[in-house]
Amino acid sequence: KPNPPNTTCTTTISSPFTGLPKLNWWGLVDLYQWEGFWYHDIVLEAAMAAKSSFTALHDDVFVAASPKTGSTWLKALVASIIHRGGGDGGGDCEGGDEDDEDADDPLRYHHPNDLVPSLELQKKWKVRSAKHGLSTALPNLCLILSLTRIKINQDLKTSSCKIVYITRDPKDVFVSLWHFTNTQRSPEQGPFPFDDAFKSFCNGFHSFGSFHEHVLQFWNASLKSPKKILFLKYEDLKREPKGEVLKLASFLGRPLANDGKAEKIVQRCSIERLKNLEVNRDGVDPWSGFPKSSYFRLGLVGDWKNKLSMEMKDKLDEITRVKFEGSDLSI
Ligand code: A3P
Repeated sequence: KPNPPNTTCTTTISSPFTGLPKLNWWGLVDLYQWEGFWYHDIVLEAAMAAKSSFTALHDDVFVAASPKTGSTWLKALVASIIHRGGGDGGGDCEGGDEDDEDADDPLRYHHPNDLVPSLELQKKWKVRSAKHGLSTALPNLCLILSLTRIKINQDLKTSSCKIVYITRDPKDVFVSLWHFTNTQRSPEQGPFPFDDAFKSFCNGFHSFGSFHEHVLQFWNASLKSPKKILFLKYEDLKREPKGEVLKLASFLGRPLANDGKAEKIVQRCSIERLKNLEVNRDGVDPWSGFPKSSYFRLGLVGDWKNKLSMEMKDKLDEITRVKFEGSDLSI
């Protein structure tokens, strides 16, 4: 891996990250490189702790993704499939009246990030009980942002936990990441310079980067354990949402009959609906510090065409081609 030009080594004795390569990411936060990937410090601390002591339980379902690949959508879909109506999740929903056909919908009352909390942001995983214990509405779901660094690799062999991974065209990922990250910058700062952001993304210098290594890690793991890891693509979900939802439900051991439930889940999880729900409109996600609304922007395939030059497109496509060469993976 190339070293970032502004990498420094931390030397503070009290820091748990002493000696790790460090870089400042888009003027926002410091990232530390650990076991080949870049981490925000609060996430790294939890990831290190999780690696040594987190154990997956049999009914755990992990949503896994690199940021901006559609993980919020996938969280909503997984939560809807596992806790779809009929009382198996409705009990968690406060409010709503009985005549309301969406009263049993957890998404109506919870941002997807609350339904599927991040293992690496949510420190409460440490105190979960023998079964579950995360202080969330639907506690046996969890987001993981990395695979090797928590010991799920090992747990996959001994537990029946499952992982659903989503990825997306890196060009759209980069543009989405740039917009998302800019929500943290003040009007005085303005957006982060686009060309610099692009260069750093191409070099893999971003939170949980590199993107390509992240994807490959889960792709290879899914080939080894197809019954434990389902590998999805954002573009497939956009093209054929019902088919992908049926596939996802079967993988999770909650197959859907052909009685309109799959269509209902697709509709409930649509970006148009989610972005307009009150629960997702205001406030800040307490774990990431980003506005709740910033997780729902356009939700399109190919938005990169509005931001990337042809030269940038060719460069990123070439990086993707080289990185994935021989892997049988195309995105
Ligand atoms: P855009 O910025 O291209 O619109 P993540 O959830 O992993 O952070 O990814 C965010 C991206 O997924 C954003 O892409 C966001 O708009 C899109 N997204 C969020 N919810 C979605 C949904 N229900 N359907 C489709 N796309 C969605």
